[in-house]
Amino acid sequence: MLRDSLRWLRRGSALLLAGVMLCGAAGCGDKDKEGNAQPTQEVQPTISGADVTGEAAPTQEAAEPIQDAQTTPEPTEPAKEVRTDFYISSIDEELPSMYEYWKDYFSIGIAITKGELLNELKGELIIQQANSMTCGNEMKPDALLDRTATMSEGTETCPVLKFGSCDAMLQFCMDNGIKMRGHTLVWHSQTPDWFFMEGYSNKPDAVFATREVMLERMENYIRLVMEYVNTTYPGVVYAWDVVNEAIAPGDGGEDGMRMSDSFWYQTIGPDFVEKAFEYARKYADAEQKLFYNDFNTYDTQKRIAILNLVNKIKEQGNIDGIGMQSHIGMSSPSLLDYEETIRKFGETGLEVQITELDISLDSDTEEDFLKEGTRYKRLFTTFKNLVDSGAANITNVTFWGLTDDGSWLNKDGKRYPLLFNRVLETKPAFWGVILDDGIPLF
Ligand code: GLA
Repeated sequence: MLRDSLRWLRRGSALLLAGVMLCGAAGCGDKDKEGNAQPTQEVQPTISGADVTGEAAPTQEAAEPIQDAQTTPEPTEPAKEVRTDFYISSIDEELPSMYEYWKDYFSIGIAITKGELLNELKGELIIQQANSMTCGNEMKPDALLDRTATMSEGTETCPVLKFGSCDAMLQFCMDNGIKMRGHTLVWHSQTPDWFFMEGYSNKPDAVFATREVMLERMENYIRLVMEYVNTTYPGVVYAWDVVNEAIAPGDGGEDGMRMSDSFWYQTIGPDFVEKAFEYARKYADAEQKLFYNDFNTYDTQKRIAILNLVNKIKEQGNIDGIGMQSHIGMSSPSLLDYEETIRKFGETGLEVQITELDISLDSDTEEDFLKEGTRYKRLFTTFKNLVDSGAANITNVTFWGLTDDGSWLNKDGKRYPLLFNRVLETKPAFWGVILDDGIPLF
């Protein structure tokens, strides 16, 4: 049933929230300095009224045009609209749960920012709908690397990290029995330039650190993140995106690797991905799964390069799965191409996870919302068929955001890519995901 999914409810209330967060830090010093199990209290500012809408923090520029030939929005400040937001007054307890619906197939994840999670209703909706969560930005290297502490307490090969950005999110998962995808350890984007420089210099004349130093920094970074997360929040993270977006055919790197904007490639060389997985395996808990994650995976060239890379790492025993980001459009990629990629990835014997699903719809008419619902329904029908036939071991599907207004796509013009509208009502997209009869398949 399509429950009022197109109706904007203007009731409910503004939310008032204050958060007391746990935060930690990790460096190369003694245990206490590493911050393991030594959380300190940090009082977050009170958030109220319109600020609580959970606008996603500006995200990194994704390096290339995303699928559907759209250009990636540059990170911008959220629009300074003067508005009062109203939400549904409470979460509808009768709303079907996506993760319950799909529990025999894969877990359902939602990427969220810390700001959004301060909104109680959004938190409740996540608890109702998801059994997996991803930090939108809060676990990325630029959120964890602490330059000031690194300069004073770190060494040339070992930085100091802080975890105030993601502590509360990990705690939320732990408190609510939600598992987390650890996103992301090694990435060319959202990693500060100084991390790659001799002496961690941030001056214009800074020079790259040597390969040897960068290998040690990489190992220490991965070790510190994993040690902290696994000690402080044991059992919460079940999968790590070890390397994100290392393949970009035509960019000049060996074997289709991204080179021009990857300081990892430029400092360490093409084997940086293998090294990252080697270190990740060394420090990960035994049950944690290690993923390679990328976008435009259905581009044939890119898919081939990814397959070559992951097969090599698989032989080394250091990878468990491939993440397909899946920022897709309404008509591109074709479902056939998309399915073909899942099949090919499935043939490797590795797990496949859909890690960042959204559909870049730029219209909010009822008709287009229904079409979006159809596209979601067809996608999930495809996932179901692939799992049923044993063609691919799809173990998680994660949406890149909760509400349309919080989407990263929504900064450069309105986009409506997700399952819930800004007041937290379901859109047809939601009903498509749970294969509701009210959503046409064609
Ligand atoms: C990439 C990254 C994500 C996120 C999205 C969009 O796909 O992997 O972490 O930043 O871009 O914001």
